[in-house]
Formats: sequence, C-alpha cells, structure tokens
Amino acid sequence: MNDSLNLKDYIREIPDFPKPGILFRDITPLLAEPKAFQAVVDRLADYYRDKQITAILAAEARGFIFAAPLALALGARFIPIRKPGKLPFETRAFHYELEYGSDSLEMHTDSIHSDDRVVIVDDLLATGGTISACIELARHSNAEIVGCAFLIELAFLNGREKMNGCDVFSLIHYDAE
Ligand code: PRP
Ligand code: MG
Repeated sequence: MNDSLNLKDYIREIPDFPKPGILFRDITPLLAEPKAFQAVVDRLADYYRDKQITAILAAEARGFIFAAPLALALGARFIPIRKPGKLPFETRAFHYELEYGSDSLEMHTDSIHSDDRVVIVDDLLATGGTISACIELARHSNAEIVGCAFLIELAFLNGREKMNGCDVFSLIHYDAE
C-alpha cells in the first residue's frame, strides 16, 4: 500500500462553484491518478478488513465511485441507493436536506437484512444530510451499521453531529472553508 501519498494533493479547489461563495473540492484529479484512487480503496479496505462487512451501501452518483471497488476489495455486496424513480423493484424512500437544496433517496426493500454488517460510503461528508438519509434507509432493515466512510470530510460543517454516534472514518479533512 502507498502510505506516503498525500491524498489532499489530488483534490482541486474550485472557487464559487456551484454558486458564489462555495469552495468546491473536486475529486476528478484523484480519480485520474490510479495510484491515488488505489490508495483510497486500499486505506478504506484496511480499516474495514477485519470487521466482517457483508454489504457496502452508497448513494449515487459520487458515492458509487468508491463504494464499488471497496465492496470488491472486501468481498461484500454492493447495494446502490438511488435518486427517485431509478430503482425498478419495491423501494423505500427517505427525504433529506442537502447543502444546495433537498432531495430523496431510495433503496430496494430486499437489499439488506438484519444479519448484515454494513458500511455506508460517500465521497464527501458536508452537512450530513445525504449520509443521514442512507443511515435511516439502512436502519429499517435492522442491519448492523458498522460505520460510514468518506474520502473527504468538511469538518467545519459539523456533519458528524447528525450521525447519531455512527463510527465515522474519513481520509481527508478540511477544518475550515
Ligand atoms: C454530494 C456528495 C455527497 C453529498 C454531501 O452529492 O457526493 O453525497 O453531496 O453533502 P451533504 O453531507 O451536505 O449531504 P450530490 O447530492 O451533490 O450528488 P452527486 O453525488 O450525484 O454528485
Ligand atoms: Mg453524492
């Protein structure tokens, strides 16, 4: 594993996107560098490897990018959580507030079970609205939520406070905008 690589070096900062006053952390340079992308998957897999994880949940779109390779690395099922109207089978929905508006997320009702040990993955923890919705969807199944993993945590937005004591593992922190 590439322990020395500083993941922050691969995050590009874009001022005033998607609107004035917002400093956007762009992950596309990291995705375009296989060493960095691999380091993310390796570091997440190392953290969860001995925790008997059976399912990785993630919300589209950016959550899928890291969740799918992590699921394969851990030999766990990948469970997509999607925006409304995309999943074809019976779904459960949860409405949530977002940094730039509000939305809902849906999950197939048969996707996880009470004997599952799940990790929920996303690229970014900002206000915590998206991850809280995913946690609520997972809780309905009575599965064990082992933790939530992020590439980036915007610590100054206090998203952790919305997560009801769920273990949080994030690889890059920003303490101020
Ligand atoms: C972004 C990001 C996280 C979420 C974080 O997703 O990928 O999922 O916002 O913000 P929060 O903690 O305030 O909820 P977005 O809804 O913009 O959609 P995308 O993943 O489809 O790009
Ligand atoms: Mg997202």
